[in-house]
Amino acid sequence: MKIAVLPGDGIGPEIVKEAVKVLNVLGEKFELEEAPVGGAGYEAKGHPLPDSTLALAKEADAILFGAVGDWKYDKLERALRPEQAILGLRKHLQLFANFRPAICYPQLTGASSLKEEIVSGLDILIVRELNGDIYFGAPRGVREAPDGLFAGSKEGFDTMRYSEPEVRRIAHVAFQAAQKRGKKLTSVDKANVLETSQFWKDVMIDVSKEYADVELSHMYVDNAAMQLVKAPKSFDVIVTGNMFGDILSDEAAMLTGSIGMLPSASLDKNNKGLYEPSHGSAPDIAGKGVANPLATILSAAMMLRYSLNKADQADRIENAVRKVLEQGYRTGDILTPGCKQVGTVAMGDAVVAALRNGPRPG
Ligand code: IPM
Ligand code: MG
Repeated sequence: MKIAVLPGDGIGPEIVKEAVKVLNVLGEKFELEEAPVGGAGYEAKGHPLPDSTLALAKEADAILFGAVGDWKYDKLERALRPEQAILGLRKHLQLFANFRPAICYPQLTGASSLKEEIVSGLDILIVRELNGDIYFGAPRGVREAPDGLFAGSKEGFDTMRYSEPEVRRIAHVAFQAAQKRGKKLTSVDKANVLETSQFWKDVMIDVSKEYADVELSHMYVDNAAMQLVKAPKSFDVIVTGNMFGDILSDEAAMLTGSIGMLPSASLDKNNKGLYEPSHGSAPDIAGKGVANPLATILSAAMMLRYSLNKADQADRIENAVRKVLEQGYRTGDILTPGCKQVGTVAMGDAVVAALRNGPRPG
């Protein structure tokens, strides 16, 4: 099992190091190979997604990704900015299905900015389409407006589009995810305004005929944004397009009060995947040893479950993380009174200790 390890920028290297430490004590034979990506790719090879990094990602069975981005690259032309690395990997590897769980751990309900009763026990899953929509739709650019009230003046434009196979494949992924959970799927769109959204909705309804056991409902994205803060527990699985999913998944993550805890997976049609924490590169705290490595450690668990067929090892890691929370270990981002504040490395060590002391797979 070959794992491409792409630490990236900011806190990426420190948190990935802890996840690698955890992988290395499982007693499995993983071949881990590291490569630069994002700003680190640009520094090393002149491109955020160097050819050698892309080649490694393609040949590996799974990718463990840290984070990319740093303010110091803001002045680079768009094609060279760190974000292009993650967009390029998603596109080149056809990682179209993005799983973003938002779970409020019982020990951390106090860390949420919402009232405890609204978020305690929260466990929802956002399935975000990752290869289409206005993110990748052509044409795009800056031009002279060909029509409209301001015809002839300069305008910026992008294109929102979704083809039927694109919507179908994410619909199947979402319905199947809902089947394994609470059997409720909410498709989020803006069908009251957008043609693309009406089309998305019609395809969802068509695919739903194959999943009689899943209850499908539809919600406009503005209402979904409201319901997520009003009654987040009323959701089970949400499926939505690339743009709406980007926004709603940040909102959902923040409900839990601990974006530093949330892993994510981006899968292709064969369940090969890229695994990364839901948070970003946090350049302001990079190198200080205070970042929370748990989202990356939990991403490694997702990798074991979805791409490497090692659900028992994934369970072990998730149990170990629960254990360290019970023991009261907290990094600064999830600290509440009465807990033990630790840094990045000590948190990784605590997970390793919990793994060593916990039950092993049969
Ligand atoms: C995310 C990020 C990316 C996105 C950026 C870094 C391009 O916000 O993974 O949600 O917009 O998809
Ligand atoms: Mg985002």
